[in-house]
Amino acid sequence: MKKFINFIVSTIFVVTAYATDGIQPSVGSPYSVIPVPEKIEITKGTYSLPVNGATFYIKGVKDSRLSDYLKASALAQSVADKAQKADILIEISSKKTDKENCEAYKLNITPKRISIKANDEAGAFYAIQTILQMSEGGTKRELQCCSVNDAPRFSYRGLLFDVSRHFRSKEFIMKQIDAMALMKLNKLHLHMTNGAGWRIEIEKYPRLTEFAAWRPYRSWMDWASDTRYCESNYPTAYGGYYTKADIREILKYAEARHITVIPDIEMPGHSEEVLAAYPELSCSGEPYRNSDYCIGKEETFTFLENVLTEVIELFPSEYIHIGGDEAVKQGWKDCPHCKKRMQEEGLKDVDELQSYLIQRIEKFVNSKGRKIIGWDEILEGGLAPNATVMSWRGTEGGLAAAKAGHKAIMSPGTFCYLDQYQDAPHTLPEAIGGYLPLKKVYSYDPIPQEFSEEEAKFIHGVQGNIWAEYIPTPEHMEMMAYPRILAIAEVGWSNPEVKCYDNFRNRALTAVEYLKEKGYNPFDLANETGN
Ligand code: ACM
Ligand code: ZN
Repeated sequence: MKKFINFIVSTIFVVTAYATDGIQPSVGSPYSVIPVPEKIEITKGTYSLPVNGATFYIKGVKDSRLSDYLKASALAQSVADKAQKADILIEISSKKTDKENCEAYKLNITPKRISIKANDEAGAFYAIQTILQMSEGGTKRELQCCSVNDAPRFSYRGLLFDVSRHFRSKEFIMKQIDAMALMKLNKLHLHMTNGAGWRIEIEKYPRLTEFAAWRPYRSWMDWASDTRYCESNYPTAYGGYYTKADIREILKYAEARHITVIPDIEMPGHSEEVLAAYPELSCSGEPYRNSDYCIGKEETFTFLENVLTEVIELFPSEYIHIGGDEAVKQGWKDCPHCKKRMQEEGLKDVDELQSYLIQRIEKFVNSKGRKIIGWDEILEGGLAPNATVMSWRGTEGGLAAAKAGHKAIMSPGTFCYLDQYQDAPHTLPEAIGGYLPLKKVYSYDPIPQEFSEEEAKFIHGVQGNIWAEYIPTPEHMEMMAYPRILAIAEVGWSNPEVKCYDNFRNRALTAVEYLKEKGYNPFDLANETGN
């Protein structure tokens, strides 16, 4: 009986929360939006988007980046001379409250006009994304009248692109930024340095991009069996990097779409490429021997601080990701420089030695007005005082960070590692392993059940990661991203009470078709085989 009552209750809930009845398929519906908005109320009638582009008027801010965005969008092209005449009226109150409130919006569509109210441009931008989704990028000109009241659950809704293992062009990154914006994702974590290649121009260290950005083999397995780097003009050189001008272009594009690009400069592990170009920064002093920086040598700190200075000058992000994961730590045990450092600083083991580096780097980054994020290994040996922890080895790291009063971003491998197979492996190109279908990503709740309300406040958000060892092409990377980042977006934005997988899957099927029309290469969700 209880089961039956549960069934009835949940059915009523789903029908009231997601009913699509009465809305013609040709009419743009708020029920199609990903992530699902907090509150949707359907009202009478439809609104027709003017064929030649709607006019808009923004009240409350001058020189709005939203204005440029709208002029170039499929929705609206020109500014109305008066608020009363605008097809889309946007009112920004500029009441600065917390981050979530900056991203909240109210959208009201009547047969006469569209009105948007938000505390900040970010909220108005997200209202526009809701309309863009309803209209399928401006192709459905008839929109269902409705009022939508929406706000994000988390302020950090991120996606990591690993551009070290396989370099991706700036055009590719900007194309993904467009899709991220549409899904209301707001953090792009750019993993630019790792053993497989250094990907950002640093003027003080030209060998990073002349040499450490190139390898003689494209295939991950070929390279893994003969791990070397090569000059950029070597006949089979494979790799690449972003110039500072490229980065500026990406940043401008992202900023217009309310996306912060978080640069990731990996340390002290996963640094084989740097140590091949500058072997004096390793314990052995020789290339191809160590993967960790020598923490005993002052040159290491000079190098890292010089690199970070150039990175901080370029990226406005409040957060700089400094890696911290999977250092081997073995070389430190026998290195006279590292042993001396441990003795002088009273560090009892190599975990504390790593912590010494992270804390010193944190001080440097803080002195420049920025904060660090590190993978959960930075908890070992003592957490740096102001660090945010990105929890990837399960949720324990996030829990430990929150208990210690630090912010945590949840990105556990079992739910958020989008480099795993999303369907039966025999139907897909080779992946690193695992099985992470859309449904499982969607089922994730970044606030672990064991968290108290107080601890939950330290959960800053969620991130999907696309590590790229086995993702050699841009098309393959898109297939790994879509539609699973749609699930990450809904996990990060929507409250668990309005989430429902079957309903999400239907919306994702529509989104997959839309993404295909826009030139993306999503996984063919409609023909999913299953485990
Ligand atoms: C990681 O996957 N090593 C953060
Ligand atoms: Zn050393």
